[in-house]
Amino acid sequence: MTFNALAIVKDFPIFQRTIRDGKRLVYLDSGATSQKPQVVIDAESDFYRLHNAAVHRGAHQLAEEATDIYEGARAITADFIGAKVDEVVFTKNATESLNLVAYAMGNAPAGNRFHLSSGDSIVVTEMEHHANLIPWQQLAARTGATLSWFEVTPEGRLDLSNINAIITEKTKVVALTHQSNVLGTINPIDVIVKRAHEVGAVVVLDACQSVPHMKVDVKELNVDFLAFSGHKALGPTGIGVFWGKSELLEELPPFLTGGSMIETVTMTGATWALAPKKFEAGVPNMAQAAGLGAALTYLTKIGIESVHSHELELTSHLLTQLSEVEGLEIVGPTSMESRGGSISFTYGDIHPHDLGQFLDSQGIAVRTGHHCAWPLNRKMGVVATTRASLYLYNTIEDCDALVAGIRDAGKYFAR
Ligand SMILES: Cc1ncc(COP(=O)(O)O)c(C=O)c1O
Repeated sequence: MTFNALAIVKDFPIFQRTIRDGKRLVYLDSGATSQKPQVVIDAESDFYRLHNAAVHRGAHQLAEEATDIYEGARAITADFIGAKVDEVVFTKNATESLNLVAYAMGNAPAGNRFHLSSGDSIVVTEMEHHANLIPWQQLAARTGATLSWFEVTPEGRLDLSNINAIITEKTKVVALTHQSNVLGTINPIDVIVKRAHEVGAVVVLDACQSVPHMKVDVKELNVDFLAFSGHKALGPTGIGVFWGKSELLEELPPFLTGGSMIETVTMTGATWALAPKKFEAGVPNMAQAAGLGAALTYLTKIGIESVHSHELELTSHLLTQLSEVEGLEIVGPTSMESRGGSISFTYGDIHPHDLGQFLDSQGIAVRTGHHCAWPLNRKMGVVATTRASLYLYNTIEDCDALVAGIRDAGKYFAR
């Protein structure tokens, strides 16, 4: 299928509406959440209209259909990231996936490979979204393990110069982002995985900003756990993915307990079902899984590699255009080397919130603030930035509208 952004735009009903008194919607906030194609909206509403029942339980046709759709979505998701079906766990979002693994490790008894105590170390990076930082801070506080991190260079890359001093024999977990939601930086996962595995640590990858935008194959990356959110990958809100290598999921204790995740129960104890059920307590997000299945099928039909090259083309164009705006500073890599389509910047002394509001008045949706990465902002010497984040439905015209809007804002605020 040849990539045609203008045809793709037609698949997304939201682009038929206008913004702020009839202006064309220029949506440059997909890093926060993506828009939804009609097929996803249909899949979710069809589930409720035609198939609604609790999965895995009922002895009736609707329950059978609901289970087929839910498990079908799991198979589609597994296929999308090169995983085995039983390695894919559905959660509420990436935040829950990351909390799941951190809390589950906190539940590991002595003797379990995930048991942490003082003397162990957890490694993160300065560029983490709060969702992949705070759960590890909490785990360290609960277990007495120390938290160490890789620093970020002024260019917005991980400083790996002292990798062997940061990931040591004491390290049990290395948790990091694949692509920074602020800087756009794509991290060298292979180098980190090699060192982590050398010392017997597991690698948890926050793939929120990579899975929706590029080919991610868990086998090739050889990470141990991975998390992403459905809503950033054209899917509905309320569905996230937690993936783990099957032998590791077997050993990882559960996070939430209750119905559906057990094998046997007595009045004094219980044993656990095998993964993925062990990690899916209660009636799950079935309609949302149906929507996610439709979203990943849609991306597969278009071709995730084509999505990626389209975004690279737009990113390169936008970086060049932005570099010509006087007073605008990119926060993050300015070259295309190992970077994706999240571009954060400051613009003279115009506060990002003022700039965001000005752009909004022109129909241009960007994100402003600290982007849930407060320590990273501090490291980069900024209080807040304006961020444009690109996706498959964006066009060169969208990028040019942003640059024109920024120039107009410059004139407006200079008055
Ligand atoms: C890199 C990264 N990690 C984690 C998250 C958290 O995702 P969610 O809020 O969908 O759980 C985000 C959301 O912006 C993100 O960009």
